[in-house]
This record gives sequence, structure tokens and C-alpha cells, in this order.
Amino acid sequence: MKITVVGAGYVGLVTATCFAELGNHVLCVEKIESHLNKLKKGIPHIYEPGLEEMLKKNLEEGRIKFSTDIKEAINFSEVIFICVGTPQSDSGKADLSQVEAVSRQIAEFMDGYKLVIEKSTVPVNTHQWVKKTISRYAASDLDFDVASNPEFLREGSAVFDFMNPDRIVAGVESDRARQIFEELYEPFTKKGHPLLMTSPAAAELIKHSANSFLAMKISYINMIAQLCEKVGVDVNMIAQGIGLDERVGAKFLNAGIGYGGSCFPKDVKAFIKIAEDHGLEFGLLRETEKINANMRRVFLDKVEEILWINKDKHIAVWGLAFKPGTDDIREAPAIDIVGELVKNGANLRLYDPEAAANFKQLFPENENLQYVNDKYSALENADALLIITEWDEFQEADLDRVKKLMKLPIIIDGRNIFPPEKMQGFEYYSMGR
Ligand SMILES: NC(=O)c1ccc[n+]([C@@H]2O[C@H](COP(=O)([O-])OP(=O)(O)OC[C@H]3O[C@@H](n4cnc5c(N)ncnc54)[C@H](O)[C@@H]3O)[C@@H](O)[C@H]2O)c1
Repeated sequence: MKITVVGAGYVGLVTATCFAELGNHVLCVEKIESHLNKLKKGIPHIYEPGLEEMLKKNLEEGRIKFSTDIKEAINFSEVIFICVGTPQSDSGKADLSQVEAVSRQIAEFMDGYKLVIEKSTVPVNTHQWVKKTISRYAASDLDFDVASNPEFLREGSAVFDFMNPDRIVAGVESDRARQIFEELYEPFTKKGHPLLMTSPAAAELIKHSANSFLAMKISYINMIAQLCEKVGVDVNMIAQGIGLDERVGAKFLNAGIGYGGSCFPKDVKAFIKIAEDHGLEFGLLRETEKINANMRRVFLDKVEEILWINKDKHIAVWGLAFKPGTDDIREAPAIDIVGELVKNGANLRLYDPEAAANFKQLFPENENLQYVNDKYSALENADALLIITEWDEFQEADLDRVKKLMKLPIIIDGRNIFPPEKMQGFEYYSMGR
């Protein structure tokens, strides 16, 4: 099939590359020229495991192309995925101006039937606005459908997730749209991945409900973690004990410093606003947010309790990305934690395998804040090591070497990456254990 993808960010670029890998011909349009110039050479402007190889292969084999020309992209195919950003606005609502702009561009340039697919995360009934906008601005009376096909990939394993979905949700209103989805996703349904057909409104609502539920699960275990610390119980035992119950499930029960990223914080906020717009108070999600925000404070209080005074202490920080496997630092806990330590006058050495360049834009290097290229260099002469992101390479660290390099063997682990019993010789602190 021929496919157009608008927006080459985490979702758009992965969607475009994976559909090309499945044998489709994809034209991906992106408005940021510097990203585009890299993409045309097969270099993703984001880090995702496996993406670069797949992109290069499909460029070489001629199945994926990049452009800034939206007219060319709209004329290229009848299937158009909208993958633009839906960031948080000042009120907490999703800012849909990018979706609206693309809808107007589609209206202006459409030259035949189009299936316009929202892949961006949008509030319920946004499809009605997309439909209305295309009808209002359309130059001629051409037929089109609007569908919702929310994306559930996780940054850090986006390519794998796209290729191995637990389910595909397609919110459609016409048989024509339904048939296109069946054809588009046949490589997945053939392998047994379920394709759930719903109404567009239900599909939009599924995405917000899913993300909010997962965020709630994280905050739930983080609240239990705080209780565990007070009563002397290891939260991992609780996570195991409840996670083995199939009704609960073991995933998303890792206690730590809470969630960040470009999705959970903004989607939870947007969902609270959606409920509010319909006269409902989503207190459950307000509490989810509150617990999550507080975990950063809990961690910082722990640091202060352990180090007493942060000023002039040499502190090594492992992990800046909001989660492992990505260079994304949007809403990352590291921003608040490093920010507070800088304010306290600590000397920091920061290391992250992928996210340092992005972090540097928020926290430029100076004599009290340095970025290093490997995890061990961060530790030289350190009074303490803080672990903020659970990259695999931290779990595999040579602990004897860690101890030798540090001035004091103090580790404050915000992600519970080490079993406490392995930590003899360290003053080792973690979350809820
Ligand atoms: N990042 C994730 O893990 C994830 C997962 C599932 C869903 N989502 C949702 O998918 C959407 C996109 O998220 P993202 O993380 O990929 O965002 P992003 O900011 O990384 O990418 C969006 C891209 O769209 C481009 N763009 C915007 N308007 C354009 C236009 N008119 N023409 C061409 N390009 C345009 C931007 O320049 C940007 O590169 C959001 O709604 C998000 O909530 C994200």
C-alpha cells in the first residue's frame, strides 16, 4: 500500500519506518528541515533501538521517502496518518493546534478519497473536529473518512512494540475505512495480533484510559513503597505478591521515583480535563499525579537525609533520560532532581548513554556540573552516586570498581536496580525497601 505519515517524531518516524519494513511505500512529511536532512541520510534524530538499521535498509530499498512538501505528501496516497504532537497547553488540556493545522492542509490539497487516521493521542471526539475542519476548508466535495488508530508503543522499545502489538485499535465509521485497516494491518492479524474495531470515539478514549491506568498503577506501587519504608517491608515482595495475581498483573509495579516522559504526565492531565469538561471530577487521577510529583521530593529528601548537606558534595548521577532506551528527557525526573541539587550547590558529574546532549540544552556544562562519557568516570572522588534511570549497563556495573573509584561508597538508587543483599561494602539506599 501507499501510506503518508505527517510528523516524523517518535511515533511518526517509527510508524513510517515499520510500515515500509512491512513492504509498503511510505512518504513521511516533517516540517523541521534539520531533522529531515538527517533522515534522508538514514540518520534518525531520535534514539530508538533498531530504528537506524531499519530506516537505512528501507531508504536503500526505496520504500521510504522524506519530504517537507505537504501537498506532495497528501497527493501521494489515500491513507494519511497524523502523527504530530499534542502537547499540554497551559490549562492542562491537550493543545490540538498541530492536528487542526494538518486537517486544514489535508482539506486544501486533497485530490481524491482520503482516509485520515489520527495516530496522535487526542481527546475523545477530536475526530468530529477533524471531520468538520476538513469539510469546512475543503476546496471541493471529495469523499473522505476520519479514523482513530491510537499508538501504544513505548519509547525505548518502540520498533519492537510497533511490530509486536498486544492489540491494534481502529476506530472507524465506514466499511471502506474498515477494509483499508484490515489490509493495512494484515501482516499483524495473520500472526495473531488482535485488531479491535471500534467507533472513533471509543478508540480515542481507549488511549487515554490505557495511559491513565498505567500511570495509576505506578503511583499505586509508589504509595505502597512509602508505606513499606515506614513499616520495614520490601516493596518488591509486595509487587511480586500482588503481581502474580492475573487480575493485577506484574507489569508497571516497579517502585521508584515515578513516571515522566512525553505521554503519561500530559495524558493524565488531559484526561482529568476531559472528565471535567463533562462535569466529572477524576479525583483518582489527580491523586495519581500528586503521588507521582511527590516521589521526586521523597527522593531528594532521602538524599538530604543521607548526605546531610548537599553543598560542595561531589555527586555522580547515572541516568538522565525519563526511561532507559531513549534519549527523551521530556518531564524526566532527572530535571527536577538535578535542578534541586544545582540549587543546593552540589558538584555534579552526569552520565547517560543517550540523553546527555538533550540534557545539556537545559543544564549547560560549568565548573560545578560536568557531563562524562562513561559511567565510571562519573564516580571519581564522588561522595555519593544517585541512580535516576534504570539503563541495563548500570545493572551490569562492576561494583568493585565502583567502590574503588568513589570517595565514599554511598549509592542512592531511585530505580531499585540492585538487590540489597548484593550491596555489601556499600551504604546502599533504594525506594521502598
Ligand atoms: N512518544 C511516545 O512514546 C508516544 C506513544 C504513543 C502516542 N504518542 C502520541 O503521538 C503523538 C506524537 O508524539 P511524538 O512523541 O512522536 O511527538 P514529537 O514531538 O516527537 O513528533 C511530532 C512531529 O510532528 C512534526 N510536525 C508537527 N506539525 C507538522 C506538520 N504540519 N507537518 C509536518 N510535520 C509536523 C513536528 O515537527 C515533530 O517532529 C502525540 O500525540 C503523542 O501523545 C506518543
